[in-house]
Amino acid sequence: MQKAPVVLGIESSCDETGAGIVSGGRLLAHAVASSMDQHARYGGVVPEIASRAHLESFNPVVRQALDQAGLRLNDIDAVAVTTGPGLSGALQVGLAGAKTLAYAIGAPLYGVHHLAGHVAADTLAHGPLPDPCVVLIVSGGHTSLLLVRDLVRDPIVHLGDTVDDAAGECFDKVARVFGLPYPGGPAIDRSARGGDPRAVTFPRPLTGAKVDPYAFSFSGLKTAAARWAERHRLRGEEIPLADAAASLQEAVADVLTRKAIAACREYEVATLVVVGGVAANSRVRALAEERCAAAGIALRVPPLRLCTDNGAMIAAVGDLLVRAGADPAPLDVSIDPSAPLEYAALHPVAQTSGVRAA
Ligand code: KG4
Ligand code: ZN
Repeated sequence: MQKAPVVLGIESSCDETGAGIVSGGRLLAHAVASSMDQHARYGGVVPEIASRAHLESFNPVVRQALDQAGLRLNDIDAVAVTTGPGLSGALQVGLAGAKTLAYAIGAPLYGVHHLAGHVAADTLAHGPLPDPCVVLIVSGGHTSLLLVRDLVRDPIVHLGDTVDDAAGECFDKVARVFGLPYPGGPAIDRSARGGDPRAVTFPRPLTGAKVDPYAFSFSGLKTAAARWAERHRLRGEEIPLADAAASLQEAVADVLTRKAIAACREYEVATLVVVGGVAANSRVRALAEERCAAAGIALRVPPLRLCTDNGAMIAAVGDLLVRAGADPAPLDVSIDPSAPLEYAALHPVAQTSGVRAA
């Protein structure tokens, strides 16, 4: 039997430098360095600091991944790298590093869409994605409901997207107003433990009868939570943090899962996949489980360590592209910081059956 190609994936779109190794759909290594602590005192990611941290972490993280897999650089058959979307300086560092490695070992290079990486992350834990599946992608910068067929061969259909803030952005910004540290999502999740999710009635945006059923909006919810906190402060009262965090989390989880289940029903899709950093949220996971079970829908959510940004998910897309016979990227491929999610690969991949023509 022919040996499956070994693919190294590099991720550097935000504050995590990730290197992962995947072969034949199997995860061989997963190493991540985060500059999160360096951004905490600014309350958000500082692009210049992130870029410098990627530069410092690139070699150690790749080395760590190779060591974990018991491989040497020359054992790598292909290199996949996030070319967008993300912070441009941060993306540049990862792409320059990936190009250098690919060139040095004579391996093909694949430019990958970061969000397709989040989707593929689940395959590392639960095997190939069923065709079709509905994917709810919830991260710090994106919130979308997708209809996914073959992830690397078919165009990705957007059923709905956020019209303003992403769900993770809402958590991060409200956490700041609540006086919680960055990143806000995990802090809200922790604070919500023991809180009453019905204590504060936060709005459920875009859930009325006459609105786009799959569009999301989180900026009104963010403002509502900020006003609520402000009212407490003006009265000189402490914010009941556990109740507020639980109620906010409940509003976000309710809207996300309600729309995702409705999409599965309307499109008669039997599997829902929830991915991205916010898929790490305990209430989002629990409510998705509860509602999918009630609706007879199979739910797939990657384990926590594969939900947030990492290189393994980029290697997973690269591995699928290689196995689909996709054309690699030219060595002058560049970054696309605001790339829309249309295909998993961020460069034309004209090739065999079904893979998009240039
Ligand atoms: O996918 P990701 O790691 O990076 C982006 O591509 O944006 O997502 C990061 C987002 C942040 O907004 C962070 O606050 C949120 O995911 N997040 C969470 C949790 N863990 C991470 N939000 C809610 N609950 C969590 N446990
Ligand atoms: Zn991400």
